[in-house]
Parts: sequence; C-alpha cells; structure tokens
Amino acid sequence: MEEMHQGRITKDGIRIYEDADFAGMRSAGAIAAQILDEVGKLVAPGATTGELDAFIERRVTELGTTSATIGYKGYQHASCISVNHVVCHGIPGAKIPGRKNDVLLEGDILNIDVTVIKDGWFGDTSRMYIAGTAKKFAQRLITVTYDCLMYGIEQVKPGNTFDDIARAIQTHAHKNRMSVVKDFCGHGLGRVFHSPPNVLHYVPVRAASQPAPVLEEGMFFTIEPMINLGKADTKVLKDEWTAITVDKKLTAQFEHSIGVTATGAEIFTPSEKDIYFPKL
Ligand code: MF3
Ligand code: CO
Ligand code: CO
Repeated sequence: MEEMHQGRITKDGIRIYEDADFAGMRSAGAIAAQILDEVGKLVAPGATTGELDAFIERRVTELGTTSATIGYKGYQHASCISVNHVVCHGIPGAKIPGRKNDVLLEGDILNIDVTVIKDGWFGDTSRMYIAGTAKKFAQRLITVTYDCLMYGIEQVKPGNTFDDIARAIQTHAHKNRMSVVKDFCGHGLGRVFHSPPNVLHYVPVRAASQPAPVLEEGMFFTIEPMINLGKADTKVLKDEWTAITVDKKLTAQFEHSIGVTATGAEIFTPSEKDIYFPKL
C-alpha cells in the first residue's frame, strides 16, 4: 500500500504539507495553547510541579486530545516543567534540581512545555511562568527570550532560510549579553512529533556545500529558543532527561508550532491573550 498521506519531501528531508493540513495543526495547537493558558492560574509559591502536571494530564484528556510525551522514549508525563537553571525536559513531580522536593518557591521561573495529539496532528508549545514575583534580571531574561522567539518567527517566509531564523534569535540574545543554547533545537512536526529539519537557534558554521535549508510554503516546525543568562553549556542529569546549565545560571524558553504560508508564518499555538502568561 502507498502511504496514505501524500505530499512532497524536499531535498533536505522536510515534508511539504497541503493547505488542508493547516486546519489539523491549528486545532491541535489551539488546545496545547489553551492548556498553557489554564495552567498559569495554578503557578504560585507552594504549588508543586507534580500538581501542575496532573492538571495538564487531566485537561489533555478532557479536551479530546492525547499526550504526545507520555510513553515517548520512556517519558511518563504530560508536560516538561523546567525550573530556574533547568534548560528543558525537567520532570514534573521529581525533585527540583538542588532542592529536596518539587515545591515551587517565591521568585522561581519555570518553563512548562506541552505537546498534544489531536486527530493525529501534533501541537507543541511552551512558555515561561513565575511563582510570585521574579527578580528584575529574571524578568529581563524572560522578556528577551520571548522576543527572541518572535524575532525568529518574523523571519519565517518562503525564500528565507533556517539560518535567517537563527540569526534573528542569536543577534537579539547577544545584544542583551545572553547566550543561546546549542545542545537542543526546534524540529519539524505535523503527523509526527519530531522530524527534519533540526531548527537551530544559533547560526552554525556551514561548509559551502551544506547551505541552510530554504523555507517553503507548507513546512511545519517548531521554534523554541533556550536563552541563558550565563554560558551556553548544558548537561543532562543522571535521570537522563533533565538538562541544566553547567554554570547553574538561569535559563528561559518559549516555543511555538509554526506553519509557513505563502507570505509568512502561521502560529498554530497562539495564546488567546496573544501574550505569554503571566503578563510581565
Ligand atoms: N515538547 C518537547 C519539545 O519541544 C519534547 C519533550 S519530549 C519529552 O520538543 F519526552 F521530554 F517529553
Ligand atoms: Co518542540
Ligand atoms: Co515542546
């Protein structure tokens, strides 16, 4: 049998989706974004990351979706919750690195990352949250990281390259004396969670024979920059998931799932509030 899903794959291995596929991504993305809107109301000093994940797992089901992360490579949770110097893939309900439990404290900053599957389509998004009130430098990191994502999205249109996205992100981070994590990247998605390309958030050194892939209408991928106050280096803890900054300085991340349209980008995972939650 032919594969049911028709469509072209570029020479870089990137699938080109059809017009009708945008609707599937839109409805998956909207639910992931709605869950991030809702969970924000529970983030406070004294809340636990385990509770936040339990809420997310319940809402994923109630909203008629399934979790893409439960069972993914052995991962067992409906979200990743990454607190303070945790870069990504923080495990909800586990001890927050450097602490003896999973209780949020006043001033903690955290990323919550949710991926749902709706009718076979993947919606993947993450935002930053604050327990109570964050220090000024932490708020600045969050704002710069959000702006990095949005400057990256501004570069999404047919004819631009993936390096144009990376350059916009890197330039804004460096202008603010922050660093861009190189060890994790965005990814193609659609009817699968992770597919080509790797969406880098920094501009790599490229051989002339390996130019950056060119964006085409119908490509679906995430942009999900992780920006650090200190150095870019990360390491993965013994649990084999939790990634932290080596210097233990703060890090932040925002993620949207995106489709390339004829003239620009469609964000599949917008917040109803059109801004990350909570507003700074
Ligand atoms: N949602 C993450 C991403 O942005 C992937 C999480 S995989 C997990 O790609 F297994 F850690 F949940
Ligand atoms: Co992602
Ligand atoms: Co994600």
